[in-house]
Amino acid sequence: MMTKFLALIPAAGSGSRMGNELPKQYLPLDNHPMIYHAINTLWHNPLITQIIVVLAPDDTVWFKYDWAHFSKKLIILNCGGVTRAESVLNGLLAVKQLNLVNSNDWILVHDAARPCLSMHQLEHLINELAEDEVGGLLAIPVADTLKLGNAKHRIIQTQPRENLWQAQTPQMFRYGMLVKALNNIAHANITDDASAIEALGLHPKLVLSDVRNLKVTYPHDLVLAELILQQRSDL
Ligand code: C5P
Repeated sequence: MMTKFLALIPAAGSGSRMGNELPKQYLPLDNHPMIYHAINTLWHNPLITQIIVVLAPDDTVWFKYDWAHFSKKLIILNCGGVTRAESVLNGLLAVKQLNLVNSNDWILVHDAARPCLSMHQLEHLINELAEDEVGGLLAIPVADTLKLGNAKHRIIQTQPRENLWQAQTPQMFRYGMLVKALNNIAHANITDDASAIEALGLHPKLVLSDVRNLKVTYPHDLVLAELILQQRSDL
């Protein structure tokens, strides 16, 4: 059986750190809701056959936009959970119910809040991992000096940055392994998929990315993201 590549976008968060009523994934960015950009890049990769978007059960915003252009690959599920990990796991289990996935298929989990993923970064990730035993993620080596601070914002210690990486998404793992890993850490407070795989004693591969694949967390990140999107020439 041919191994398939499916993308999954957890988009059930409220984005409270943005200080906006509208959930972060829908904030306007370069004439589209932010999540449009992640979908657009994934959609253009010929290996990815399906893009699963996991929304909150009470999401009322998604259907206000026209997604017809992407409809051939899109699967919309209103099964988001309380945490990101729960949203990913709920989405994965729902796709199994639809008979769309086999244990060996690759799942690329990508945050709606990373709108600037480039076609090149995505291809690079897939090329690096397609034959890998474990899977892995896009990441960048830490460039800044790292300080451990206390509650009063006073430095307690300088942390060595050698061998430290910042994790990005997509994070790419085999369906069966990812479901097992997420079930195993149920209710633990993890913020990415690789952490769950690590908890199985495995070592996901760090695939070199760059800062342009930034995560939009605070309002000023939107300004940067817009500049990056306006500069890109791959789509
Ligand atoms: O809040 P944060 O930026 O860390 O969220 C990362 C991604 O996880 C976002 O795409 C967000 O919509 C998603 N998420 C989710 N379900 C939650 C919390 C976050 O799908 N309960």
